[in-house]
Amino acid sequence: MPLLELVNIRLALQEKTILDELSFQVDSGDIIGLLGTSGSGKTSLFRMINLLQSPTQGTVLYRGKDTLTYQPTTLRREIGYVFQKTYLFGDTIKENLIYPYQLLKQEPDFQEITDYLAKANLPQDIITKKINELSGGEQQRIALIRSLLVKPHILLLDEVTASLDEENTLIIEKLILDQHQTRNVTILFISHNTQQAERLAQKILYLAKGRISFYGNKGEFFERGLNNE
Ligand SMILES: Nc1ncnc2c1ncn2[C@@H]1O[C@H](COP(=O)(O)OP(=O)(O)OP(=O)(O)O)[C@@H](O)[C@H]1O
Ligand SMILES: [Mg+2]
Repeated sequence: MPLLELVNIRLALQEKTILDELSFQVDSGDIIGLLGTSGSGKTSLFRMINLLQSPTQGTVLYRGKDTLTYQPTTLRREIGYVFQKTYLFGDTIKENLIYPYQLLKQEPDFQEITDYLAKANLPQDIITKKINELSGGEQQRIALIRSLLVKPHILLLDEVTASLDEENTLIIEKLILDQHQTRNVTILFISHNTQQAERLAQKILYLAKGRISFYGNKGEFFERGLNNE
């Protein structure tokens, strides 16, 4: 059984078709790069998988069950989502990093937080800062760590390195691959950086005007030069 399956999805918002005839499967352990021009529906697809948007038609199945039958909070613990527009809540970084433990009804593990900050190339004293004292790239990395601390089975990453320089982009790619290797996390990531897709992905899903124009192995995608379409 695929871990995630979309069956004939159509999404219309204000009478405009955003996604159409979308069917694909994600297997456990996949790393899928979701590419496509601006406005092709990539973020809308993630919002639908995470129950922030209901499909107009079709079904999203997680572990063989319609996602609409899950409690949204339960599903979102299993399927983590790092938004394109970084969202930190409350006042302090500490609040954001402790929240995952509250969600999991566990005591905060400050050693784990320390390790993730180091792996994301962030200074340890960042935990004492207020959210508006951080740069965009720092906020984006805190949002990513917050998602990882929940230990989801699937990670949806929406342009998660968009605010980072090349050095930090590579550091975050390493952190993402490390999650895959150590915890077998299934990863779907959106990117406008085709080199990043070539580095990270096993499979490519290419959206054009809300429809799939390619879904398959990365090698085939790049060999056929489909990234230039
Ligand atoms: N709430 C909404 N109501 C109406 N149209 C919307 C809504 N949200 C998104 N859209 C439209 O849906 C289309 C797809 O948007 P989406 O954000 O999914 O694109 P994207 O592929 O993520 O683009 P980008 O690469 O710029 O982030 C766009 O044409 C957008 O204007
Ligand atoms: Mg988007």
